[in-house]
Amino acid sequence: MSRTVADAIATRRAVRNYLPDDVPEEALDRVVHQALEAPSAFNAQARDLVVIRDPEIRRALVDASGQRQFIDAPVVLVAVGRAEVLPEDAGEILPDPVRTMAEKFNSLKTPQELREAALRDAMLVAGFALVAAAGEGLATSPTTGWNEEKVKEAIGLGGRDDRVIALVIAMGHGADTPEHPGRHDSRRVNERY
Ligand SMILES: Cc1cc2nc3c(=O)[nH]c(=O)nc-3n(C[C@H](O)[C@H](O)[C@H](O)COP(=O)(O)O)c2cc1C
Repeated sequence: MSRTVADAIATRRAVRNYLPDDVPEEALDRVVHQALEAPSAFNAQARDLVVIRDPEIRRALVDASGQRQFIDAPVVLVAVGRAEVLPEDAGEILPDPVRTMAEKFNSLKTPQELREAALRDAMLVAGFALVAAAGEGLATSPTTGWNEEKVKEAIGLGGRDDRVIALVIAMGHGADTPEHPGRHDSRRVNERY
């Protein structure tokens, strides 16, 4: 299934109840591929999208969060930021002038600023993943209600200060269709400058 972007955005909901049905590998590949098309600062791609099917790891994510959708849904995606001046493989993709500029710019950042920059890149991938999944007719549950260190441990990044967890997303076939939760009209853009 491939919905239009408008349809995917309109129908996406945070779904917390899942059917046990598996997600086909091809659909998962498309979601991951589209998510990683998200733009990033300097195109340095200081983020990863970790795909988890292993039930033991998903159970550890339940322990890290108290949220059972990580075990009920067959797939969990973790958007991970790389809090680094530049990812070690940046040279393979960035033309030299851009790499030098990015290195100079990022080396002035504090560790906190590097963490925030990585979070921005990773959150954009996560947002693309939510829409891409909806485009495939898949339900998702975006979450930040977990212990970051426990999530890192669960996915093999325990103790890594150079990695930051942006969003943990359960993905699968929804067992229900939540209603639209409503939005503030005042949040809509009604003036242009
Ligand atoms: C950054 C972020 C963190 C969230 N964390 C959680 C969470 O920990 N657990 C949960 O059940 N839902 C979580 N949600 C889902 C929101 O509650 C949900 O997106 C919101 O109520 C709007 O509903 P909608 O996604 O269906 O439009 C999170 C959403 C976002 C964007």
